[in-house]
Amino acid sequence: MLIRTLTLIATVALLAGCNTKSISTTAENLTGQDLFEMHCAQCHKASGAGNFLKGVPSVALTDLTEHEISEQILKGKNRMPSSPRLNYEQRMKIARYIKHELH
Ligand code: HEC
Repeated sequence: MLIRTLTLIATVALLAGCNTKSISTTAENLTGQDLFEMHCAQCHKASGAGNFLKGVPSVALTDLTEHEISEQILKGKNRMPSSPRLNYEQRMKIARYIKHELH
């Protein structure tokens, strides 16, 4: 029973691991929404509203331009981590999604 449980945990971990890898390295047809939900929503929420109690601002109402958002994704700011693995095109997709579809 213990072995079965451990095998199950290992399998889930493996699947999750593969998934993360293919997401960050191969998927070129992901939308801005997909990318936002994978990389940003854990802090900013899928709605973009952020989390006031944790000091995460809303992105839905940001005054930053698309280019500035892309730069902030690349470099991070204070407690927001940088995401250097997102390329320019992916960052701009996210930025366009934030500016045009999150309100
Ligand atoms: C670990 C939590 C975390 C993650 C993940 C995260 N952010 Fe942030 N974000 C923050 C925090 C905290 C700030 C406030 C930074 C500051 O100005 O001190 C912030 C600020 C921002 C702002 C500026 C909002 C404004 O108007 O001041 C934008 C835009 C933004 N994040 C977009 C993103 C995007 C896009 C992603 C995904 C690629 C992302 N963030 C991932 C925590 C996070």
